Amino acid sequence: MPQIAIISSSVRTGRNSHRVALYFKKYLETNHTATVEILDLAEYNFPVFEERLKFQENPSAEALSFAEKIKAADGVLIVTPEYNGGYPASLKNVVDLLGEEWRRKPVAISTVSSGPFGGMQVISSLQFTLWKIQAWTVPAMFPVPKVQEAFDEHGVPAEHAVMDKRAAGFIKEFLWCIEAGKRMTDVAF
Ligand SMILES: Cc1cc2nc3c(=O)[nH]c(=O)nc-3n(C[C@H](O)[C@H](O)[C@H](O)COP(=O)(O)O)c2cc1C
Repeated sequence: MPQIAIISSSVRTGRNSHRVALYFKKYLETNHTATVEILDLAEYNFPVFEERLKFQENPSAEALSFAEKIKAADGVLIVTPEYNGGYPASLKNVVDLLGEEWRRKPVAISTVSSGPFGGMQVISSLQFTLWKIQAWTVPAMFPVPKVQEAFDEHGVPAEHAVMDKRAAGFIKEFLWCIEAGKRMTDVAF
């Protein structure tokens, strides 16, 4: 059973993209018998890190735990809002915190906005950063426009069947990458 970590990136008061994280947790648990944990950056409430985790002298228990969860996950699904054409500082903070934990990790990205374009402008900058850190970004997208209308606060979609159909295609690619990565674990590359 794949173990999936969902990073909910927005720490904004009154955030809406967290709804998408809630939706994917339920979707994955219902349809793919995956073990899913939401890593909620608002709950972690991390400071802006002054150094990467491996160089910190007294790392916090929360930072160590976050790193362990990323390391242990078979795949990471990032749910990120679009802020001024980019992803939020809270997300960059935890990407840069780690290093080896990201290497070859299948990472799927769902971008979210309140406007009509679904946060699509985030994709290129976030993918580039993840590529630089040697994560394995999944070549499928899940943009969510008008998130405040698309989901209620519990992550229930307004149009359930339509959303589930879109999610199925996206998650299929994600799980393919997870499976492909697993099959390579014994190969010395
Ligand atoms: C600082 C800031 C910048 C934003 N910039 C954009 C933007 O460039 N494009 C966009 O579609 N929405 C933008 N939004 C609106 C977000 O898409 C909206 O808040 C959405 O619900 C996702 O973010 P949230 O999870 O923090 O709510 C911005 C919101 C904030 C707080």
